[in-house]
Amino acid sequence: MTPRESTKGAETVKNRSFDDVIKNNNIVEKNEENIMENEDIFLHPRILKLEEENKLMAQTIRRSEEERIMLSELFNNTNNELNNLKKPSLLVAEIANVVGNDKAVIRLPNGNKFYCYVSKDIKQLSPGDSVLVDQKSLNVIEKIHITNNFDVEKYVIVEKPQENWKDIGGLKKEIEEVKEVIELPLKKPELFKKVGIQPPKGVLLYGPPGTGKTLLAKAVAHSTNATFIEVVGSELVQKFIGEGAKLVKDIFELARKKSPSIVFIDEIDALAATRMDTGTSGEREVNRTFMQLLAEVDGFKHLDNVKIIGATNRLDILDPAIIRPGRLDRLLEIGLPSIEGRIEILKVHTKNMNLKKVSIKKIAEETENMSGAELRAICTEAGFCAIREDREFVTTEDFSSAIVKVRIDDGDDDTAEFFG
Ligand SMILES: Nc1ncnc2c1ncn2[C@@H]1O[C@H](COP(=O)(O)OP(=O)(O)OP(=O)(O)O)[C@@H](O)[C@H]1O
Ligand SMILES: [Mg+2]
Repeated sequence: MTPRESTKGAETVKNRSFDDVIKNNNIVEKNEENIMENEDIFLHPRILKLEEENKLMAQTIRRSEEERIMLSELFNNTNNELNNLKKPSLLVAEIANVVGNDKAVIRLPNGNKFYCYVSKDIKQLSPGDSVLVDQKSLNVIEKIHITNNFDVEKYVIVEKPQENWKDIGGLKKEIEEVKEVIELPLKKPELFKKVGIQPPKGVLLYGPPGTGKTLLAKAVAHSTNATFIEVVGSELVQKFIGEGAKLVKDIFELARKKSPSIVFIDEIDALAATRMDTGTSGEREVNRTFMQLLAEVDGFKHLDNVKIIGATNRLDILDPAIIRPGRLDRLLEIGLPSIEGRIEILKVHTKNMNLKKVSIKKIAEETENMSGAELRAICTEAGFCAIREDREFVTTEDFSSAIVKVRIDDGDDDTAEFFG
């Protein structure tokens, strides 16, 4: 080979190799592009997947954060509750007197009084307010508004009674008097205004048990269409220790709200027994309740739509304050029924009975000194005698054995010489 040839050859080689390089480069670029394209195809779903995962994670984080907030709130609440439960409880007392700016005499529910400091935060304290006091120091910490009308309707019987005048046997004179004292002022107050007299505020029924005192009170409430509020004196002082006076106040408030109404205080002697100065806290409590009752009776006007009927078996022990003029000044004795009374009562209670040749008069003769309640028991017992013998009618013999049974049950009891 000539040098020229060889040079030419070299050039060719050079040229070729340059071309090759370019070609190669192109191939490489193409390959890279291909790879890139391949990678693109390969990566895109992964990215999408990761993004999806990311979104899920973010959601989980958000949810966890919400949960954390909720749990921490729950924790705080429980913690607060726990702290509250650990705190010593406070006594509820009543302010008897305010002394200067920061002292007061408080009255505890048991009636004891204490002279204590009053927290500076409490403004406008006045006697009668309910307050919270520390158990140990008895200092007044907070004023509270106890709704002292703790739903009296729950504790007293408030109803429109069903009992009728017709359900009462005998007691004609007594019925007339109750009508005059209670019914007439409620129904025709203008009559009293015209004549210019004041009807009594109430009436006190007294007499042995079972003679129809409650019945009379209910019948008058029925005939006047008045709300009948029944309170039992002994319950007032026993069940609601420390609250008796408040309850009396609330009862009269309720009576005024639901007027026309009749407040019937059964066993009034439990409240209004002659006061003895033995000074035990229980007695003081009864006294307070009684004083409240007097205050309430004095508090309403003669022609208000509220009437009071008291009932007792023990007139002898009653405090004269309750029966003095202007209060329950009408006393009405409901005694054991006379023979005519007994006939009437028996008629009432045998009204629906299937009697066969029974002489009511004869039964009445045999039941001397028996009360209306006992007569009713006799009628029921006579009915049972008939049922026991599988009869559908009641005979004189049933009544005879019923009388014997009721007499024995009552131990021939004490009603005869019951009260003075
Ligand atoms: N005069 C009467 N006429 C009809 N039933 C009577 C009479 N008296 C009493 N009864 C009957 O006796 C039941 C009891 O009477 P009531 O409850 O009125 O007696 P009370 O005088 O209130 O006795 P207590 O003093 O024991 O409370 C009455 O539900 C009624 O069935
Ligand atoms: Mg009664």
